[in-house]
Amino acid sequence: MLSEQATPVVRATLPVVGAAIGDIAELFYRRLFDARPALLSDLFNRGNQANGEQRKALAGSIAAFAGMLLETPDARPDAMLARIANKHASLGITSDQYKIVHRHLFAAMTDVLGAALTDEVTAAWDEVYWLMANALIAIETRLYQEAGAAEGEVWRRMEITERRRETPDVVSFLLRPRDGGPAG
Ligand code: HEM
Repeated sequence: MLSEQATPVVRATLPVVGAAIGDIAELFYRRLFDARPALLSDLFNRGNQANGEQRKALAGSIAAFAGMLLETPDARPDAMLARIANKHASLGITSDQYKIVHRHLFAAMTDVLGAALTDEVTAAWDEVYWLMANALIAIETRLYQEAGAAEGEVWRRMEITERRRETPDVVSFLLRPRDGGPAG
């Protein structure tokens, strides 16, 4: 739930933030990938990055979450959080990466909103961000635990046991899990 101080500030600024979400999203990703190029090559889908709508998903969902906190302060949008957390856990997102996203997202908001982003407004949106981030981190932690995986460890080591040339330009590889367990 948002604090008493943050609630009116988020209510007053949500229309401005919502209207600027496309610009904020664009600058956010530019800043993020400039600082962490490996995230683009390893984690984010380049096809999705080329698509403006998908690019707005992350920042847009924070604005949507803020709207829900204002409309129904006592309810948690569990379905939305679960969908995002499942996507994140399938990709091996880790809790420390939320600080990186926070840094670049708020820098992008400063670039776009300028003087409108006072300390009071920043503090209020910080609350929104961390309420959502902590809810996602909690679900993702549970998903990793249920799968018996360490945080972010979604890849399984395999070894190639056979390399078969099928045709002059097609090769098949036979893989076996390194841990000796079943493949499926
Ligand atoms: C409060 C913070 C965050 C929010 C609100 C958020 C929100 C979202 C949303 C709405 C989606 C789309 C889900 C879908 O396809 O159904 C998504 C996907 C994704 N998120 Fe997050 N996210 C957050 C933090 C992070 C962090 C810390 C990372 C790690 C760097 C991350 C990496 C990704 C990636 C790689 C995808 C898939 C995008 C693609 O397909 O290219 N997110 N996130």
